[in-house]
Amino acid sequence: MQQIRQVVDSEFTAVNDFIIEQLHSNVPLVENIGHYIVDAGGKRLRPLLSLLCAGAIGRIDEKHLHLAAVIEFIHTATLLHDDVVDISALRRGRPTANANWGNAPSVLVGDFLYSRAFQILVKIGSFPLMGLLSDTTNTVAEGEVLQLTRAGNPDTSEATYFEVIRSKTAVLFGAACSGAAILSDNAEHQSALHQYGVNLGIAFQLIDDILDYEGDPAETGKNVGDDLAEGKPTLPLIYLLEHGSEAHKELVRDAISNKSAEQLDAIVSAVKQCGALDYCHAAAKRYTYAAIAALNGLAPSPYRSALEKLTEIALSRRS
Ligand code: IPE
Ligand code: IPE
Ligand code: MG
Ligand code: MG
Repeated sequence: MQQIRQVVDSEFTAVNDFIIEQLHSNVPLVENIGHYIVDAGGKRLRPLLSLLCAGAIGRIDEKHLHLAAVIEFIHTATLLHDDVVDISALRRGRPTANANWGNAPSVLVGDFLYSRAFQILVKIGSFPLMGLLSDTTNTVAEGEVLQLTRAGNPDTSEATYFEVIRSKTAVLFGAACSGAAILSDNAEHQSALHQYGVNLGIAFQLIDDILDYEGDPAETGKNVGDDLAEGKPTLPLIYLLEHGSEAHKELVRDAISNKSAEQLDAIVSAVKQCGALDYCHAAAKRYTYAAIAALNGLAPSPYRSALEKLTEIALSRRS
């Protein structure tokens, strides 16, 4: 990751500085919570994508730096809201904002970050980019709501699962990438970069859903078993419900229906035993191949190579 960041070293630092600067508010609680979650780090993967995509098709301008910050603000807002919805207690290795301050401040500061993103976007001044990001944010919200309507439902199909992860996660990756092309007035590569981002985003969420079963909280900075506790029918469980033993199917149906992580240990070993994690990993791999293939029309450059390498990291990541 460090190597990849070096390709856009000074720009990446400038984006981080701009993000901190833009957290400014006259209301102390907004700044406290904003800094709390932003200073905890996070991989800053999406802003990195915007910078690398801009570099891969031309010059990286100041407006690309602003786009990168907008994307990270939108992402951070979704995390604040998501942790309320998922009743999560750990994020980026720290207690979540909702664990520290409660749900109301988390939701409201999430709103602040969303609207700050749109203020910056207006300053960038590109109507096509505003269109892309308002559609994207709208789809992310729909994805989270669709997921909510499936929580506790063990009959959720694989197709619905993919619709959820495309909406809640992958389209923002797509926008981070194609937004850079919009700002570069590069219609030629806009759709390819969107395809790259969406496919990478799907792979990224597939791995996230694996890590929710076999990740190490010391590395992911998140608790294991959150998805199970929310009754989320993610792909590891959907696969088990198709291919597991009758006893394991029963165990998982009950856990999803009751939104209970009480049997987490038994379910983790059942998930491993039936090959569900390998199945999910293989699916993630296919999406990363599709992401790499989408870059075919781009001229070779350190930026393009970095985008390709990012797909490997997305697959092998433990954090
Ligand atoms: C977490 O995203 C939310 C998902 C889409 C899985 P990241 O794993 O990119 O979160 P941070 O920003 O690095 O904390
Ligand atoms: C992430 O979904 C998607 C969004 C934040 C919109 P998850 O609920 O799987 O993300 P984590 O695991 O809490 O980071
Ligand atoms: Mg969550
Ligand atoms: Mg998750």
